[in-house]
Amino acid sequence: MSKNIINTPNHIAVILDGNGRWAKQRGFSRTEGHKAGVENLEMLINECRDLDIKYLTLYVFSTENWKRPAFEVNNLMSLLNKYLTEKKDVLIKENIRLNIIGEIEKLPSKIVKLIKETINQTKNNEKLILTLAVNYGARNEIITAIKILANDVLNGKIDVDSINENIFKNYLYTHNIPDPDLLIRTSGEYRLSNFLLWQCAYTEFWYTDVYWPDFKKKDLYEAIDNFSKRKRRFGKVDNES
Ligand code: IPE
Ligand code: IPE
Ligand code: MG
Repeated sequence: MSKNIINTPNHIAVILDGNGRWAKQRGFSRTEGHKAGVENLEMLINECRDLDIKYLTLYVFSTENWKRPAFEVNNLMSLLNKYLTEKKDVLIKENIRLNIIGEIEKLPSKIVKLIKETINQTKNNEKLILTLAVNYGARNEIITAIKILANDVLNGKIDVDSINENIFKNYLYTHNIPDPDLLIRTSGEYRLSNFLLWQCAYTEFWYTDVYWPDFKKKDLYEAIDNFSKRKRRFGKVDNES
């Protein structure tokens, strides 16, 4: 794929899956798998930045992931803490803006503090908008949006008849980012797992059997190359037909 390729996605979302199976395949612990998964983020972020992709959204921890054993949940939280601590200055320096979607108040308080500081310190960055979905669940997002909207109706801020798709989307965690153009899921699973249900209405999907820690630059390029050849009709008919 050439860097001058036209039709690169403006927004890529990734379900980073398969850390556990990657580790098991090698006789490692799941902890080792998550560590390798975090190490692989640098490649993805750098490549997207170099390809002038404006938005990158990563599914880091779902609302359902709390159901994993406490040891694993704690491990994931400490990896997130370590990652944000180590990368804060890199994000600032490399003109990357951190954005978070999900119910962050339920996370350990030191992570909430770190997230808020990093968001604040990168708020004017514009090369790449890096959104991390942490304690994110699309159903939770929609219910949360409906509650705020219902209050606005009760308080007379919004008239029920004026509610439409454009107004509703402003109540979602993703109000400040566009819908994904391309969604990549690694590890051979073909499902959304409660990710961006509203936002993926017209997203193009790309699945690969590769486990996330093994997902390399060539795999990313393959996905983007395939995306660039697709015809997105959005319900219309092709111009040439
Ligand atoms: C993805 O890898 C990371 C998170 C969900 C946090 P998994 O931990 O789901 O790996 P598998 O699916 O068990 O292989
Ligand atoms: C989805 O992966 C969540 C993240 C990648 C953070 P899971 O591994 O939790 O999804 P399921 O359980 O296989 O659907
Ligand atoms: Mg998984």
